[in-house]
Amino acid sequence: MTYRPSPLGSWQSRSTFVLALSASAVGLGNLWRFSYLAGEHGGAPFVLTYLIFLFGIAAPLLIAETVIGSHGRNSPPDSLLYAADRSMRTRAWHLLGYLACFTGFLILSYYAVIAGWAFAYAQQMEAGTFSSVSAQGVGEFFTLFLSDSLQMLQWHTLFLLMVLGVVLLGVARGLGALVWLSVPAIMAVLGILVLYSLENGDVPAAQAFLFGVQPLDFNAKSVLVALGHAFFTLGVGAAVGMSYGAYAAQKVPLARSVMAVAVFDTVVALAAGIAIFPIVFANNIEPSMGPGLMFVSLPYAFGNMPDGELYGLLFFLLVVVAAWGSAVALLEPIVATVKQRFRIRRLTAVTAIGAALWLMGVAIIFSFRPAAPDQYLQDWNFFLLLDALTADWLLPIVALFTAIFVGWCMRIPLLRAELYRESNLFFWLLVFLLRYIAPPAIGVLLIAALLNL
Ligand code: TRP
Repeated sequence: MTYRPSPLGSWQSRSTFVLALSASAVGLGNLWRFSYLAGEHGGAPFVLTYLIFLFGIAAPLLIAETVIGSHGRNSPPDSLLYAADRSMRTRAWHLLGYLACFTGFLILSYYAVIAGWAFAYAQQMEAGTFSSVSAQGVGEFFTLFLSDSLQMLQWHTLFLLMVLGVVLLGVARGLGALVWLSVPAIMAVLGILVLYSLENGDVPAAQAFLFGVQPLDFNAKSVLVALGHAFFTLGVGAAVGMSYGAYAAQKVPLARSVMAVAVFDTVVALAAGIAIFPIVFANNIEPSMGPGLMFVSLPYAFGNMPDGELYGLLFFLLVVVAAWGSAVALLEPIVATVKQRFRIRRLTAVTAIGAALWLMGVAIIFSFRPAAPDQYLQDWNFFLLLDALTADWLLPIVALFTAIFVGWCMRIPLLRAELYRESNLFFWLLVFLLRYIAPPAIGVLLIAALLNL
């Protein structure tokens, strides 16, 4: 097998590839989305279902994405085109690359808005806005914040510029450099916050919630949400694996690396749960309040705890840094695709996509404006619609086709060549999961949800 580097760039080292996938995986999904979904869907049963999906379905699919990338070594649609040609399948498969990038675009458009919230809250923590504030006061602040479109826009714009800047610098100097800083920083800050929470929070209540049996709010829809979240949190379904795999050196053991990333992502999600829920319960806050959980309960809790200002600031900065690596991962495949499709420079592609993302953000931000005071919960429909559309539908659909392509359409010797560093047993286990487990499981869940079972 001759090694062809991708025209878009390469990672400087093997560890950079693993760190980059880790930075993609760890983000708002672990800190914000996981905590509010676990709160809404009854805790332990949701956590267990999502973990089964994560290792049984999402991780094999991320491996499948990296295989496509390392085989094709180009932008996602071009890699798929190459892989389809080599396996003598229809070239229409490259359309899957566009669908994946479109999905990533929609996710990124609201992801940058939420990351902007975290930015704003970090600043408020620093300014002492929440010290000794009442629970009602924090709620009112959030309502006001949602209608303060200009303030939101300012933070959203700053975050987007940070993301565009890194992607503009390219694979080696931009993305590769960022992940060497962000992943260690995330680990250090999260460790500090877990210790703080264990010391000051209601740990038994959080444990009972996350790991105990209480199937109250868990229903059929929760299973699909758990599947969608497994894809979201590992970063599957938006072509990140295809792009990052295309930049990997030839000698990387792809499958083992992805499994390590899945373990890391799980540890971070659970650590975030351990950092967040004891604080929630220590302050008698309802865990089932939805996307606002992190932005209402935590400021209140931190505002009323020893040294809460400092730890609150650390927490929201952690959210921003984690979101940064994920947002960069979501953007790179889109930039690569547009760059190759239109044969333009990276700068041109980044500028055009950045402008489109910014406009989407503006639309989302203005959709939060309450029609009347106290009505904000009804008014964030556009954002909730985007979140559900992407995570519950588009990610599983892209994943379904990816499993079919790699499991059923790519020729086994080609697959084996990309995964040559893995044992036979592991290789065939992966093929089995991609062929016989992932497609039926995803298909059944999508159909059940469509029929509203
Ligand atoms: N995994 C990230 C998070 O948990 C978000 C993310 C990065 C993502 N890349 C992705 C989600 C690809 C879906 C698809 O915050």
